Amino acid sequence: MASQNLKSTRIFPFISLLLLLPLPAIEGVGVNWGTAASHPLPPLKVVELLKANNINKVKLFDADPLLLQSLAGSNIRVTVGIPNSMLRSLNASLKAAESWVHDNLTRFVSDRASRVLIDYVAVGDEPFLQSYGEQFYPFVVGAAANIQMALFKSNLAVKVKVVAPCSYDAFTSDSGLPSNARFRPDVNRTMIELLTFLNRHQSPFFVTISPFQLYHENKNISLNFALFRQTAHARNDTHKTYKNIFDLSYDTIISALSTAGFPQVDIVISRIGWPTDGAPNATSSLAEEFTKGLINHLHSGSAKSSKRQDLPTEIYFFSLLDEDKRTIINGNFERHWGVFTFDGQAKYQVDFGQGSRKLINAQNVEYLSSKWCVVNNNKDLSNVTALASDACAAADCTSLSAGGSCFDLSWPGNISYAFNSYYQQHDQNADSCYFAGLGLITTVDPSVGTCRFIVQLRTSHSMSIHESTFSTWTISSTVIIFLLLLTGRWQEMFL
Ligand SMILES: *[C@@H]1O[C@H](CO)[C@@H](O)[C@H](O)[C@H]1NC(C)=O
Ligand SMILES: *[C@@H]1O[C@H](CO)[C@@H](O)[C@H](O)[C@H]1NC(C)=O
Ligand SMILES: *[C@@H]1O[C@H](CO)[C@@H](O)[C@H](O)[C@H]1NC(C)=O
Ligand SMILES: *[C@@H]1O[C@H](CO)[C@@H](O)[C@H](O)[C@H]1NC(C)=O
Ligand SMILES: *[C@@H]1O[C@H](CO)[C@@H](O)[C@H](O)[C@H]1NC(C)=O
Ligand SMILES: *[C@@H]1O[C@H](CO)[C@@H](O)[C@H](O)[C@H]1NC(C)=O
Ligand SMILES: *[C@@H]1O[C@H](CO)[C@@H](O)[C@H](O)[C@H]1NC(C)=O
Ligand SMILES: *[C@@H]1O[C@H](CO)[C@@H](O)[C@H](O)[C@H]1NC(C)=O
Repeated sequence: MASQNLKSTRIFPFISLLLLLPLPAIEGVGVNWGTAASHPLPPLKVVELLKANNINKVKLFDADPLLLQSLAGSNIRVTVGIPNSMLRSLNASLKAAESWVHDNLTRFVSDRASRVLIDYVAVGDEPFLQSYGEQFYPFVVGAAANIQMALFKSNLAVKVKVVAPCSYDAFTSDSGLPSNARFRPDVNRTMIELLTFLNRHQSPFFVTISPFQLYHENKNISLNFALFRQTAHARNDTHKTYKNIFDLSYDTIISALSTAGFPQVDIVISRIGWPTDGAPNATSSLAEEFTKGLINHLHSGSAKSSKRQDLPTEIYFFSLLDEDKRTIINGNFERHWGVFTFDGQAKYQVDFGQGSRKLINAQNVEYLSSKWCVVNNNKDLSNVTALASDACAAADCTSLSAGGSCFDLSWPGNISYAFNSYYQQHDQNADSCYFAGLGLITTVDPSVGTCRFIVQLRTSHSMSIHESTFSTWTISSTVIIFLLLLTGRWQEMFL
């Protein structure tokens, strides 16, 4: 009972603000910051980007010290991730968990001068995904318990909570409606163990909601229903009518949790978004419609309620940036979740807390030279197909797929696209535009219409070849400090 009251007082300021004040944006909006990119935007640039856009929470997928250092002293609240591949050893050994905490948390949380505000350790990344089978989930609760013990031993357990992000496919419902929702039978027992663990430590339940995939995979879910459109055909459950896929998914989660005996657990939507390329209906304009629809919905009367579980306590968009090395086993759209492109340019407008102001792009991004690799049309191209396939397998041709931004390129424009992707991923190394003599380096941008032929970022790896400039660094930090002063007051209200 006491713990419930404690939880309510922690949650109440957030929800009441969300509901009662005519806020320009949801407070507590965060983003996932993944780094599965061949040329990641430098961490300090990313942190500038977050601050400039009032994004005050990030969820990471690992504990990369460069990312954590860049967040030090920033006032941004952080979730640190533990990859699935580490779950087995963390379950097997408390020592391994203690080393993980010591190496990856202690110095960042405890450093007084440049503290990183770590709220959560996410044990695994959707280890319950059905496609993983039993590879990871049997180790989750043991790994979480060992990390919890290691936090306790290093006096960090009060500050840092242990969570385990869960995929939406851990839930199932025969009718497709919330009233029959339950956990997938194969993970049911483990989910109950996990919830018992979370309950004991008053940690929230981290869960993904996947409107795009649900729409993509189910003929009976309309785009209108996925995008919060007023024209959507409503779905009736026994006691409730659903007008959009978000509410239906959210109640599916609540219902399964209640059925399992955990009606009170706090819910954090740790991942939600809409991709912009690589599949039909993955476009910037639909992503904007979805994201605006979601944010408006969370403010709207239909989402208002006195019952606290009617709203998630926090929400993390997926994702901040595009990542050209993400696995595409689930679809070519997987590399295009970013609200921003790989180089930090806003693809569409969304209110992260900056009000009616437009999103601010990453500043002073450093690129490789303005050079591209294309196919030489004057050569015999009869054998070019295999070369393009190899280039695509190694690099990123997801924009060429049906519905993608470069799908309309005709042959051999699409071959040039493949060649260029490979060339850019290899730091514009001249050898990487050879292609049996069929490649040609050009300084004329081959981009056409919506199809962007990229120039990759200059990274520390490629930097050694070129000289770099830091001229505007001082100016940007001044701007950032000013923005921080402006936003600091809001953040304090949620600590
Ligand atoms: C997790 O670790 C415990 C303790 O070492 C061990 O007994 C258990 O079998 C492990 N779990 C799995 C699924 O291997
Ligand atoms: C700390 O985290 C990094 C990145 O996730 C990982 O590679 C490393 O093994 C971790 N340290 C320990 C001692 O587990
Ligand atoms: C939608 O279709 C899926 C399978 O394609 C089915 O499992 C589900 O029950 C259907 N949902 C509704 C509400 O009709
Ligand atoms: C899940 O596990 C609980 C507790 O063991 C059990 O009562 C329930 O019937 C199970 N549900 C399913 C769908 O397997
Ligand atoms: C759903 O319920 C509403 C009233 O709650 C009713 O007007 C509507 O006809 C129902 N729709 C379907 C498809 O049953
Ligand atoms: C969504 O994709 C389908 C299939 O390609 C297409 O017919 C439809 O026009 C698309 N809708 C929008 C709004 O882009
Ligand atoms: C294409 O490949 C075939 C088989 O490897 C080879 O015989 C032929 O000479 C090649 N053509 C060109 C133009 O390279
Ligand atoms: C390029 O387009 C041609 C003709 O539409 C197609 O056969 C080929 O598979 C495409 N190649 C790539 C790499 O997309």
